[in-house]
Amino acid sequence: MSVIMVTSRGPYSYEKKNNRIIKQENVGGVATGLKKIIERDRGTWICWGDGNADHLYQDENNGLYRIKRILLNPREKKGFYDDYSNSTLWPLFHYFREKIEHDSIAYGYYRHVNRKFAEVIKDTASSEDVIWVHDYQLSLVPKYLRDMGVKNKLLFTWHIPWVSSEFYTILPEREDIVKSISMCNSITFHTQKYRTNFRHSYERVVGYDKELERRTFTFPLGIDYQSFSHEQIESGKRPFEDKKIIFSIDRLDYTKGLVERVNAIEMFIKKYPEFKEKFVYLMMVTPSRIGVEEYEKLKEKLEMNVGRINGLYGNLNWVPIVYMYRKINSDILKTYYSWGDIALITPMKDGLNLVSMEYVAVSKKGVLILSEFAGISEYLRGAIKTNPNSDDDVSEKIAMAMRMPDSEILRRLRSMKDFLRKHDDRWWANRILGTLVKN
Ligand code: G6P
Repeated sequence: MSVIMVTSRGPYSYEKKNNRIIKQENVGGVATGLKKIIERDRGTWICWGDGNADHLYQDENNGLYRIKRILLNPREKKGFYDDYSNSTLWPLFHYFREKIEHDSIAYGYYRHVNRKFAEVIKDTASSEDVIWVHDYQLSLVPKYLRDMGVKNKLLFTWHIPWVSSEFYTILPEREDIVKSISMCNSITFHTQKYRTNFRHSYERVVGYDKELERRTFTFPLGIDYQSFSHEQIESGKRPFEDKKIIFSIDRLDYTKGLVERVNAIEMFIKKYPEFKEKFVYLMMVTPSRIGVEEYEKLKEKLEMNVGRINGLYGNLNWVPIVYMYRKINSDILKTYYSWGDIALITPMKDGLNLVSMEYVAVSKKGVLILSEFAGISEYLRGAIKTNPNSDDDVSEKIAMAMRMPDSEILRRLRSMKDFLRKHDDRWWANRILGTLVKN
């Protein structure tokens, strides 16, 4: 038996720049978590090949595992990815009512691309392989596989929040999606709440199904804890020696609460003048979903706000927010994690949030301030919880973190590290694959 991993975003892609082909690693998000699992199992990864040189590597064996890439033309990309996945499903499943757009042409492309994935899976799988499909971009793949007569064991992992049934039923395609997912042998979510919301949504749209209860599970995705905590991290020369570093890294996404966070930093400066020039907020933002209008608008708004705050409060010796917008490689990211005295991770809504987990694993003496609306906040008891909708609350929590005695920092960090060590990526994959024994 081997595993066929199926995701929209692959582990890396090939980009042609100045006549050279570069392998571009995909940092962050779901793909990172799955890399280690597939390497161990030596399975096959089926994903979208969106790099401009991916067509040269459509079926690749990289020595550790095989990758099959599905190519999309610009219209397929727009309908499937920009429009239906990221302008309908993404805002819906993060409770952003006013950002939901809908059109049936986009849904047509979404169906078409999901069917394309199913065709490649069918051609690849031998009868004993387990097919493991991931996330909201591919929710109809199980239905197409079953329609094509594929009998393999099917796993589905939903990585983003599942909203309350009341909210879910806004979606015109509500029936297709829950029915398709329910065709899998096991379905897993990151929190108990998401799992319950899914079951209630199914019940409301299709009806009660006792079987489904047995086939849905909650397992939060883990990280490769050892590689983050043991690796010799090249910490370089830490900048801002006389200041505390507040650190964050996020994809540029309205769900991450970036504008709200920058406003909270302003509130912090105003409310706690004693900390002026005593901190620097190192804000890393990585480009994401560039073709989607909402994302472009957000960039402008965020950058204007960062500029405004630095202009208003900065001086010759101090720039409160050091903002960087670019792709980042995983070694530099680990170095930044190691510099952060405080990590400020305040999404408005987030399926789990791997960044906060990686920070905790790397950090030797850091404080994690975490939004109560990130899935992982249910598990990380040692984090300082905050409500990202209140800049008063966030600024208060920053002050609390700045003043926290070392003994308390270490006590909290230890409890979070213990959780992550026990619930790592290996634990997660084994528990999920284990559910197939009975299902
Ligand atoms: C979230 C989603 C993933 C997605 C990732 C990056 O983590 O749950 O499915 O891959 O964001 O987004 P992108 O649109 O670049 O794949």
